[in-house]
Amino acid sequence: MKNCVLINSLIPRFNKVLDIPGDKSLSIRWILLASQALGKSKAFNLLESEDVLNAIISMRKLGVKIIKRDDYYEINGVGLNGFEHKNNLKINAGNSGTFARLLCGSLAGNVKYVKVIGDKSLSKRDFSRIVKPLKLFGVKIKTKNNKLPLTIMGSRYLRPISYNEVKGSAQVKSAILIAALNTPGQTIIKSKFSRNHTELMMKNCLNINLKSKKKSNFEIIKIIGKKNYKNFNYKIPGDISSAAFFIVLTILSNKSTLKIKNVNFNKSRTGVIEILRKMGAKIKISNLRNYKGERLADIEVVSSKNLIGIKCPRSFNTKTIDEFLIIFLVCAKAKGVSTFTGISELRQKESDRLKIGAKFLKSIGIKIEEKFDSLKIYGNPELCINKQIIIKNYLKDHRVFMMSCIAALTLGGNFKIYDKNSINSSFPNFLMLLKKLGAKIDNRYIN
Ligand code: S3P
Repeated sequence: MKNCVLINSLIPRFNKVLDIPGDKSLSIRWILLASQALGKSKAFNLLESEDVLNAIISMRKLGVKIIKRDDYYEINGVGLNGFEHKNNLKINAGNSGTFARLLCGSLAGNVKYVKVIGDKSLSKRDFSRIVKPLKLFGVKIKTKNNKLPLTIMGSRYLRPISYNEVKGSAQVKSAILIAALNTPGQTIIKSKFSRNHTELMMKNCLNINLKSKKKSNFEIIKIIGKKNYKNFNYKIPGDISSAAFFIVLTILSNKSTLKIKNVNFNKSRTGVIEILRKMGAKIKISNLRNYKGERLADIEVVSSKNLIGIKCPRSFNTKTIDEFLIIFLVCAKAKGVSTFTGISELRQKESDRLKIGAKFLKSIGIKIEEKFDSLKIYGNPELCINKQIIIKNYLKDHRVFMMSCIAALTLGGNFKIYDKNSINSSFPNFLMLLKKLGAKIDNRYIN
C-alpha cells in the first residue's frame, strides 16, 4: 500500500516560491570528474537521490574517498588512472543510464576487471552506443547483446579516436570525452547537438584542453587528454527536468502562481520552456546569470488557459528529451492536434516512454496515434476526469509516476498510482513539495 499513492482532489490555488533539488546530470558528472581530480573537491546542493547515491557508493568501491559533510559532499580525488580496487569488482548502477555509461568512460584506463550491473529497467537498455566507441579506444568490453551486465577492462595503451555520434546522446558523447581524459593525443567527436554539461565542466572547472565548434545541427569537439587536473568545487543548480513537473502543475491549475529559483537554464535543456510558451503558457524567465559556463535562471509561471496544440520541430527533440511525458499531458488539455516526430529515442529511456505515454493518454480518454517514431495527440480543453484511473504496470518509471500525480491534481478523478518508490531515483522529495504547495497527499506516502 505504501508504494501506491491515492489522489482524489484537485490542488487548491497556490502562490508560492520553491527550490528544486540539484540537477541530476551535473551531480553525476561532478562525482565522476572530481573522483579523478587531484585533491579535495566539494559540491553543494548535490542531488541526494538513488541514482546519485549509487554513483557515490560505486566510486567508493573504486577506492575514492567520499564524505558527506554538513552541507556539502567532499571527494578526495585519486587522479587519472588512480582507482584502486580488487579484480572482478561488481558495480551496481541501479536505474541510472547516465551513471552506467559515463562510468564506463571513466574506466577506460583502469586495468582491472569491473562488472557493471543495473536494475531490471537498466538491464534492458542498449549499451552498444558506448561499447562501440570505447572499444575503438582499446577498452575491452564483454556483454551479451550489448546489454548489462557488462564486464569492462581498460587499457594502459589507449588510442585517441575520431567518432561520429549520430544519436544526439549526451551520455555517449560524455563517455567518450571522459575516456579521452585518460588517452594521449587528440580525440575528435562529431556529435549531433546534445546537452553539453561535461564539456562545460571540463573547460571551466578542470581547465582541460577542449574546443568545440558549432555547425548547423552538430558540433565538432576536440579534446587532448593525459593531463591531470586539480580539485574543483561546484554548487549544483536546480534540475529543470524536475522543475518541469511543477511548471506544468501550475499551468494546468486554477489561478495559481509559482516561482522556482536557481534552475539550470542551459540552452541544451530548455526545450520544455520553449514548447510550453509556444503552446500559450505564461512563463517568465528572470535573473539569467552565468555559473562556471552554465546558464542559471529563476522561472515564474502562472496558470494558463487557452493552450493550443503544437507541431513540435524535430530540432527540439534532444533539448526536451526527458520532458516529453509531461508535455504530452499539456497537449491532452490543449486545443487542436499536437504532433511529435523523430522521437523514437524515447523508447530507449527508463521505460519505452513513447508507448507508455500513449497508453497513459488513452487511459484518461485522449485520442492518440502512435507510430514507431512519432505521436499525435488530439487535445481536449474540456478534459475533466470523473472516474477511477489506476496507474499500474507502467514499468516503474519515475517520470511516469510524477506525470500521473500532476494529472491527478489538475484533471480530477480518483487516481491510484503505483510504484511511488520510483521517484527515489531522481526526486525523492517530490510528494513533499507537492504537499508544500497545498496538494492533499496523505502523510503516509511522504518519508
Ligand atoms: C543525460 C542525457 C540524456 C537524458 C538523461 C540524462 C545526461 O540521455 O535522457 O536523462 O545526463 O547526459 P541521452 O544522452 O542518452 O539521450
